[in-house]
Amino acid sequence: MNVRESYVRECTETVHMLAKEYLTSPFNVLEMFAGSGSIYTKGFVDFSEKIIGYELNKELQAAFEQNITNGQFIQANSIEKLMNDEFQRDLIDSNINIISIDNPLGQYNGDFFENFQIMDHIKNVIPLNQKSILCLNLVKTPYHPERHGEWINRRSEFFRDNGLNVNLDAAVNTYISLLELQEIKILDYRAVLREKHEGIDYYYMLFVVVEG
Ligand SMILES: C[S@@+](CC[C@H](N)C(=O)[O-])C[C@H]1O[C@@H](n2cnc3c(N)ncnc32)[C@H](O)[C@@H]1O
Repeated sequence: MNVRESYVRECTETVHMLAKEYLTSPFNVLEMFAGSGSIYTKGFVDFSEKIIGYELNKELQAAFEQNITNGQFIQANSIEKLMNDEFQRDLIDSNINIISIDNPLGQYNGDFFENFQIMDHIKNVIPLNQKSILCLNLVKTPYHPERHGEWINRRSEFFRDNGLNVNLDAAVNTYISLLELQEIKILDYRAVLREKHEGIDYYYMLFVVVEG
């Protein structure tokens, strides 16, 4: 049996609620991992003015433009762009105040794991001198861990835990501490369940209201 329950709607509704409380409209989104937008990013369409989506795979452009009617698809390697500190222009030009990082889970692009390496450079995608909302994936309990030895090892290092079933509060603190280390001011945050797998809450999103 492979039963998944998705709560993506609750995730984007939480962002909308936080945006109304803390940000000045219009709400403009930058998604570093756009895909076709069909799973989660489409949940921003109804309450945002513009969504800029970065995606490596050009073949997803047509589907993205169909799903994200207020979207702009940019084919690029967003991790390289982040590490080269090339996002500030977009943040200013498009008046971005919601930054979403819907990275692939597990290992991808060679030696990348979840958002672990991205977190070291996160300041490069936070708008300066304003409030914004950062949306992050947080995997609590990977399923089929036996198939992913290296990933689990990297999770143990990142969370300083066993990597298989991390404590949610401690995992949230790991992310919050990494933001604070980069002198990003935290105004509020929420962890929201995104998906269950066979009844297990394996995957959350962490929404952080920040001031860069
Ligand atoms: C989890 S999916 C995104 C799902 C999408 N946000 C949605 O709501 O449907 C991750 C996407 O990241 C893309 N990707 C992986 N590495 C990337 C990179 N370095 N730069 C840009 N996109 C990348 C993959 O091609 C994949 O489409």
